[in-house]
Amino acid sequence: VSSIEVDVESLEPGMSLTVKWRGKPVFIRNRTEAEVEEAKAVAIDDLKDPVARNANISASSMATDIDRSAGEGKENWLVMVGVCTHLGCIPLGQSGDFGGWFCPCHGSHYDTAGRIRKGPAPENLAVPEFAFISDTVIKIG
Ligand code: FES
Repeated sequence: VSSIEVDVESLEPGMSLTVKWRGKPVFIRNRTEAEVEEAKAVAIDDLKDPVARNANISASSMATDIDRSAGEGKENWLVMVGVCTHLGCIPLGQSGDFGGWFCPCHGSHYDTAGRIRKGPAPENLAVPEFAFISDTVIKIG
């Protein structure tokens, strides 16, 4: 029922912002080319959670970089609920062994596509329902 619109025009590659949606933080990141390439280079077999966890596509989709991102033509954009899938702490951006997010509560490391790579968290960070409603505005929810 509650959706928000976020203007991301000022987010240059490498920049992120956090907004609040339904009482939870949502991370929006304009990834650099290097971050996208790093995520694309990872084999699905090397992922702890091979499922996309993306509310916008089929629940059985694999956690490829494109299916974790805003999709074709907008693969640089990552939108994720900023809640660790272990016990709900808020991970820190651009941290951890995989250059993505790090949850300091019990040491979960997420990669540049928000996929869990190391530590106790069982699942990739969740991608909420969202869409670009213009070139620069994202509607979440
Ligand atoms: Fe994030 Fe435990 S809540 S690692």
